[in-house]
Amino acid sequence: MRIGEITANSLLKPDYYRVKFYAPEIAAKAKPGQFVHVRIEEGSSHILRRPFSIHDTAPDGSVTVVYKVVGSGTRRLAELRPGDVCDLLGPLGTSYTPPPAGAVPVMVAGGYGSAAMYMLTRRMPVTGIALIGARSEADVILEDRYRAAGCRVIVATNDGSMGEKGFVTALAEQVIREHAGEKLFFYGCGPHPMLMALAKIMKDHALPGELSLDHLMCCGVGACFGCVVKVAADTPEGWTYARACKDGPVFDISRIWLEN
Ligand SMILES: Cc1cc2nc3c(=O)[nH]c(=O)nc-3n(C[C@H](O)[C@H](O)[C@H](O)COP(=O)(O)OP(=O)(O)OC[C@H]3O[C@@H](n4cnc5c(N)ncnc54)[C@H](O)[C@@H]3O)c2cc1C
Ligand code: FES
Repeated sequence: MRIGEITANSLLKPDYYRVKFYAPEIAAKAKPGQFVHVRIEEGSSHILRRPFSIHDTAPDGSVTVVYKVVGSGTRRLAELRPGDVCDLLGPLGTSYTPPPAGAVPVMVAGGYGSAAMYMLTRRMPVTGIALIGARSEADVILEDRYRAAGCRVIVATNDGSMGEKGFVTALAEQVIREHAGEKLFFYGCGPHPMLMALAKIMKDHALPGELSLDHLMCCGVGACFGCVVKVAADTPEGWTYARACKDGPVFDISRIWLEN
């Protein structure tokens, strides 16, 4: 089999696909939270790579990505079939760290964020709580996989079409109340406003954790500074710039600058 060869690419639910690449070196090294930068098709007009979180890996050398079709690159990816080859760069970026001993891990996912945090859940020594949020039922993905991994799963949708009506951050506040006095460790991945709201809650409650700041990317390897985000730093302003692709995407909560 060729490196980057697609071995499966199937519809998960409308607009969402699960693609499996043969990439044994990436599979062997990948850590939860890292991403691959994919040139959708070797030699195609999609010259710019697209970043995708590594959803999972397997001993057979496969790297799985779960993606939503949002534009031309992902539309083309959805058309590819087993045997087609993409060029994958990775694993890239920083990763989530395991929860500290005795802490209950709480995964807070918005949209495709639940794809990004699944490998973390699967590799964790303890099962945790997965809070999965989306605009509506159509964007809730993989909740069954979190349940199968032993997590307590709570879903929230903005329009109430699935689970509780409201933002996933309200679920985070609910969990904090329910587990008052216990040690919690939060992980987050999702749209920027959701992450900033989650970061505010975590800082208000002095809760530890790590958030993945996914940002539009160009080179993906730290060379172009096209993906900078503000992070808290010991500077007169209180912040500095960091590259989401190389210094992140996973940042400790202490480094999250709320005015991003
Ligand atoms: C580190 C990282 C991990 C990611 N992991 C996943 C994943 O696991 N699954 C998944 O479906 N997507 C993921 N994304 C987003 C994915 O990279 C984009 O959806 C993809 O590049 C869009 O390519 P396109 O050519 O189809 O769309 P384009 O034509 O490039 O863009 C279409 C629309 O999508 C928006 N868009 C593009 N990139 C992003 C982004 N990073 N965040 C929010 N909106 C964006 C554009 O602004 C535009 O509105 C990740 C992004 C990053 C930075
Ligand atoms: S995308 Fe080039 S430095 Fe991050």
